[in-house]
Parts: sequence; C-alpha cells; structure tokens
Amino acid sequence: MKKAVLITGASAGFGKATAHKLLDSGHWTVYAGARRVERMEDLGAKGAHVLKLDVTQDTDLQTAANTMVEAEGRIDALLANAGYGSYGMIESVPLEEIEYQYNVNVFGVARCLKAVLPQMRKQRSGRIVITESIVSHISTLGLGWYASTKHALRGMSIALRQEVRDLGIEVVAVEPGGVDTDFDEVAFERLKAVEHPRDYQRLVDDFYAYMVNAYSKAPGPESTAEAMVKALTADKPRFVYKTTADAKLGPAVVGMVPDATYDKMILSAVRKAGEKARK
Ligand SMILES: NC(=O)c1ccc[n+]([C@@H]2O[C@H](COP(=O)([O-])OP(=O)(O)OC[C@H]3O[C@@H](n4cnc5c(N)ncnc54)[C@H](OP(=O)(O)O)[C@@H]3O)[C@@H](O)[C@H]2O)c1
Repeated sequence: MKKAVLITGASAGFGKATAHKLLDSGHWTVYAGARRVERMEDLGAKGAHVLKLDVTQDTDLQTAANTMVEAEGRIDALLANAGYGSYGMIESVPLEEIEYQYNVNVFGVARCLKAVLPQMRKQRSGRIVITESIVSHISTLGLGWYASTKHALRGMSIALRQEVRDLGIEVVAVEPGGVDTDFDEVAFERLKAVEHPRDYQRLVDDFYAYMVNAYSKAPGPESTAEAMVKALTADKPRFVYKTTADAKLGPAVVGMVPDATYDKMILSAVRKAGEKARK
C-alpha cells in the first residue's frame, strides 16, 4: 500500500524536487501544497494531489489534513518545508516583515504539526521531517532574523522528537547550507525592499556581494532532495541530515573558534567580497 505524505513548499526548490522523487518511486501518494498552484502542474500530471495552501492560514492546513484522512485514512508523513529568507540588518527590517517571516517559517510549521499530529497519534505512527538549516546552528550579519527563525525550529524539533517518540512518531531535521533554488532570489528581493540607515549601507552592500558570490557557487537542490527522501523513507532515520559541505563543516568550525575570531572571520570575508564587487 502506498504511503501518504503532505509536502509544504512544493511549488519550487526542495519541496518540488522531493515530491518528484517520491512520485517517481511509485510508493507514495503525494499531497503537494503551496500558494502558487500553477507552479505544481507538473506534480499534478504525475498524480500528486495539488493543494492551494498558505502556511499562514490555519484553515488551509486543517483542510489539507482532513482531506488526506478522508481519502487515505491516514497521514504517514509530513515534510514541513515552506519557508523563505528575509535578509537585512537587525535594526532595519520592519517589524511587520519580522512578524511575517515568523508567521511563515515558525508558526507555519506549528500549524502543520497541529494539523497532522492528532491523526499520527491515533495511528501510533508517522514521520515528521522539518526543513531547518545551517543557520539553525550559526548566524551572520545580514540574515539574523532569518537565522533566528531556523534556530527556533531547532529548539522546537528537538523537544518534539522527545515528546512523540513513545507514540511511534519520528521527527527528523534536514539542514541544507546554501543551495541554488528560488530561495536566494526571494531573499535578495526582500533585502532590496529594506531601507537601511546610512550607517549600515556599506555593510549591506558588502553582505549582498558576499551572498551573491556564495550563491553563484552553491550546489543545486538534488542532494538535499535525496536527503529529504531518506529522511522520509529510511527504516531508521538519523535525527539530522546535513545536506551540503558548508552545512556539515560550518557549525563545527564555528564551534571551535572563540566568538571574537568568528566575528573577525565573517566581517573580513564580507568586506573582501564587497571590495571585489566594487573593483
Ligand atoms: N536554498 C537554500 O539555500 C536553503 C538553505 C537552508 C534552508 N532552506 C529552507 O528550505 C526551505 C525551502 O526553500 P527552497 O530553497 O526550496 O526555496 P524556494 O525554491 O524559494 O521554495 C520555497 C517554497 O516555500 C513556499 N512558500 C513560501 N511561503 C509560503 C507560504 N506562506 N505558504 C506556503 N508555502 C510557502 C513557496 O511556495 P509558494 O510561494 O508557491 O507558496 C515555495 O514552494 C525553506 O524553509 C528554506 O528556509 C533553504
């Protein structure tokens, strides 16, 4: 019998790539959710149930879970993946944007959990995979509010893992580093929309140059989607899948150096990128 999974953020990037892999395997019934349904026609053509789903809306998640239970009788897995990066200096990002970012990245996951956990408890089984990040562990200037949302998910998912273990439900985190999806475009758009006080402008320009350079060298979504499939399907999944070299190395290196050294390393790399871009 096929297993049923709900994937949020399935219209692009990791969510879409993972949905394709699960559909291709023939072992999964995929409920693919995102706001832009027109971007999921390819998944629909392969047999996915395409749902118009905004993770900031309680009813969208409740409806998705009810639909799955009615049609499948169960919810085997959730990939809580929808999210975006909102870049900008801590002081400059408007409060409404910080709130919206939390509404999508953190409360969006809370809504997913509240929608699927009652059924998973009833079943005494289920797999919850949460898209976290290298920035669940570390942070840098220019992306602090985004990193804080992913830190929040890490704190929550460790607790959840312990709370539902004896109910037969497994919780797995996937932690990508920089990966070439639509993510960087969205984050750069948000950065451009922020008005920064003049005191920060040079640092903002340098940060932008640094991130553009980093994303120009970033790998594609394939290895992260493969890790997501493993996280969803492995008999004994790991607690955490770090999917890129920077996600594996970054937090380990940062953990080994004093904070002052880390700050110097980041500031120096960011300024160098800015100088190079201005030449
Ligand atoms: N790419 C990276 O470098 C990277 C690294 C670490 C972690 N991540 C995380 O990976 C996850 C997926 O990102 P990605 O790289 O695949 O980016 P992406 O290509 O931009 O895809 C983001 C997905 O999230 C969905 N989404 C955004 N806001 C939503 C909302 N309010 N309701 C429902 N869906 C929403 C988008 O769909 P709609 O716009 O159609 O709704 C889209 O399907 C995010 O949680 C991100 O934080 C990304």
